[in-house]
Amino acid sequence: MARRQVNSTRRFVDSGSFPFAPLHPKSHSSPLLSVVLVLLGAILLIGYAYSGSGVFGGDKEAVSRVEGDFSCTLELQRAIPILKKAYGDSMRKVLHVGPDTCSVVSKLLKEEETEAWGVEPYDVEDADGNCRHLVHKGIVRVADIKFPLPYRAKSFSLVIVSDALEYLSPKYLNKTLPELARVSSDGLVIFTGYPGQQRAKVAELSKFGRPAKMRSSSWWIRYFVQTSLEENEAAIKKFEQAATKKSYKPSCQVFHLNSYH
Ligand SMILES: *[C@@H]1O[C@H](CO)[C@@H](O)[C@H](O)[C@H]1NC(C)=O
Repeated sequence: MARRQVNSTRRFVDSGSFPFAPLHPKSHSSPLLSVVLVLLGAILLIGYAYSGSGVFGGDKEAVSRVEGDFSCTLELQRAIPILKKAYGDSMRKVLHVGPDTCSVVSKLLKEEETEAWGVEPYDVEDADGNCRHLVHKGIVRVADIKFPLPYRAKSFSLVIVSDALEYLSPKYLNKTLPELARVSSDGLVIFTGYPGQQRAKVAELSKFGRPAKMRSSSWWIRYFVQTSLEENEAAIKKFEQAATKKSYKPSCQVFHLNSYH
């Protein structure tokens, strides 16, 4: 069984029974050939040991990292306690914008003194019952964020967006970011991937329309300055303090912006 596995993974093992040849006393092989065969056998055994634990295990991990659907929306859910510390009372009325918003809204609704709404920029066709319920109650809306959001100015104390701005070109960002700031009163939080963190699976490209574009932190900061969005220094400081205290290190870029005054 074990040898069969080796045979199937190492193509130079085609010569059938040769690992046994050196052990055969009546072998007609030359001594040199025996030594070579023993060495080959040893290489095979080592190779097998590696294929059992190291090499294939490693491959599997790499594959799942590629398929693992890197997500700042998940990161945001992990960050909720830190956001609560940083934003305190401003977490009372939260709007989340991004894919899988149902899961974020459900999680926020479990927090004390937090009301939550969501905007799902893509379809919810494969949504579960809980999500359909949230959509039915109007808590979660499906809306194209390239267009004005269906809310009045300052409808929410805090707006949090994740995994959504990466799919917008600067032209649409110019419309969408001010919209997010418009409907918030105490701030806007952006969770976005670092360059090199690739997310979109091929199957998702049709859903999002274009591949995600991960922008660098300097790109974003320049963009905020250009579009007159100010970073929320107080929130940045509190978020960093809370994160340090809880040894939380976000695997996404997190930006804190002021709402319009
Ligand atoms: C976005 O807005 C900024 C500031 O108003 C402007 O400088 C920039 O050219 C705009 N970008 C696009 C692609 O429209």
